[in-house]
Amino acid sequence: MIPQTEKALIGIIGGSGLYDPGIFSEFKEIKVYTPYGEPSDLITIGTVEGKKVAFLPRHGRRHRIPPHKINYKANIWALKELGVKWIISVSAVGSLRMDYKPGDFVIPDQFIDMTKSRNYTFFDGPVVAHVSMADPFCEHLRRLAIETARELNITVHESGTYICVEGPRFSTRAESRVWREVYKADIIGMTLVPEVNLACEMQMCYATIAMVTDYDVFAEVPVTAEEVTKVMSENTEKAKKLLYSLIRKIPENPQEGLCSCCNSLKTALV
Ligand code: ADE
Repeated sequence: MIPQTEKALIGIIGGSGLYDPGIFSEFKEIKVYTPYGEPSDLITIGTVEGKKVAFLPRHGRRHRIPPHKINYKANIWALKELGVKWIISVSAVGSLRMDYKPGDFVIPDQFIDMTKSRNYTFFDGPVVAHVSMADPFCEHLRRLAIETARELNITVHESGTYICVEGPRFSTRAESRVWREVYKADIIGMTLVPEVNLACEMQMCYATIAMVTDYDVFAEVPVTAEEVTKVMSENTEKAKKLLYSLIRKIPENPQEGLCSCCNSLKTALV
């Protein structure tokens, strides 16, 4: 049993470059045990203007865990165990269109899954569930994130299709052409799936703040890991400001009519 003092309303899953939210007035680090093994790292529980927030670095501190080795099930389970209702995920993405520029933020509304070998579900049997993924992100949380970014004068694109590739390598030029021209995806990353699926199965509100770091390989110079890290570190302060202001706006409970995330299992169980 998790003691009440270690409960949290909001969970932040930090991506490349965001290993410490730097926004807590007071905090402590806790280890959470799950039936699926260890989460990516210790979880920091802190307070932002009276709201309890749990922070988990997706790749672990010092970026030890590659996208395909992340224990997504343990991460989501741990946040659920802490009582988290809202998950804000932050991630670095490549852009597949010229008008989504490095340094811009995107709040995606759709995804395409091109991953190959991950643990996608909590429902491995004997309980079987097929959750709807028609609208995979929490619309309520997306709207709050967009509104907050605009108030802070951050360049934000309010929709976009995120194509999730297996990694850890980047795409070939031919693949990138397919993602852009055939699949019509807008941004590309390696970590959204199965994080979003699992959050949905746990009936949690989930939205992603995607920070554009590069033009993948469709521009003249192909993306490098060095470029991604550089652009991320130039933009982490902006991300922290956005997180801080967004947290202040998040209500105690998701509002009926604005999203149905907490009912995702109502029509899913067989
Ligand atoms: N993360 C950041 N940039 C990326 C890219 N171009 N492809 C896949 N993942 C990324």
